[in-house]
Amino acid sequence: MTATASERAAAPSSGEPLLRLRGIQKSFGAVHVLRGIDLDVKAGEVTALVGDNGAGKSTLIKGIAGIHSFDEGEYVFDGRPVTVHNPKDASGLGIEVVYQDLALCDNLDVVHNMFLGRELRHRGLLDEDAMEKRARETLNGLSVRTLQSVRTKVASLSGGQRQTVAIARSVLWNSRLVILDEPTAALGVAQTEQVLLLVRRLADSGLGVILISHNLNDVFQVADDIAVLYLGQMVAQVRKDDVTSNQVVQLITTGSTGAEGASA
Ligand SMILES: Nc1ncnc2c1ncn2[C@@H]1O[C@H](COP(=O)(O)OP(=O)(O)OP(=O)(O)O)[C@@H](O)[C@H]1O
Ligand SMILES: [Mg+2]
Repeated sequence: MTATASERAAAPSSGEPLLRLRGIQKSFGAVHVLRGIDLDVKAGEVTALVGDNGAGKSTLIKGIAGIHSFDEGEYVFDGRPVTVHNPKDASGLGIEVVYQDLALCDNLDVVHNMFLGRELRHRGLLDEDAMEKRARETLNGLSVRTLQSVRTKVASLSGGQRQTVAIARSVLWNSRLVILDEPTAALGVAQTEQVLLLVRRLADSGLGVILISHNLNDVFQVADDIAVLYLGQMVAQVRKDDVTSNQVVQLITTGSTGAEGASA
């Protein structure tokens, strides 16, 4: 089957999205949580995922990450239909999630946290030098300059520094798609700024990034695309430059922009 000229013209210039979901359904028992979700995430872009409490954001990313299986729908990664039924399937594709609670170990240093569960070994022993080197290289590659030493225990880091470590950990493993669940929720102004710069750098380095956020300032500062979930339905996915903050608030709270009859 060949695409018509208009279909080709409608395709994004950068080609196939890194992640393409179509018609995703997910229920927990009688509760129908995701209702026919479509989502496109391009490499090199930040796609913000917004929606009110209970809209289905976490359920959607847990499905992408293989923590839940979707009941129905197409999951296409890098142009190929894939089945993702567990976190290992997702990490095998290069999908990494930074969860809001971060799951860092306070009593371990930055290096050990970055390699937690995937330690490098040499002749059966932890290869401390190699891990330290790669941790430093990764942080430098992301232009992280706020950490004094990679041997600092995580307990003594600020919230923003902890978030930085968690994000850096997610790019150690040939990641292609990084999903960030509310990375700035607990941060002050300066630390939020640092983390948003880091989020932007991830995308600029060629990764696909999904950013869940309730903060529209963050979304408008860093996103390329905005996807809005409302009661389990994707009511819009739009270029940031094509919407106002007020329109996004309307979409989040009512599921439409209020411009009835106008094309969305
Ligand atoms: N394991 C589960 N079993 C039953 N219902 C669930 C389960 N997980 C989520 N839900 C329901 O699915 C709906 C969507 O929840 P979800 O956590 O995805 O929302 P969210 O958009 O992430 O909200 P928030 O912004 O508060 O984090 C809610 O009504 C929730 O009660
Ligand atoms: Mg959630």
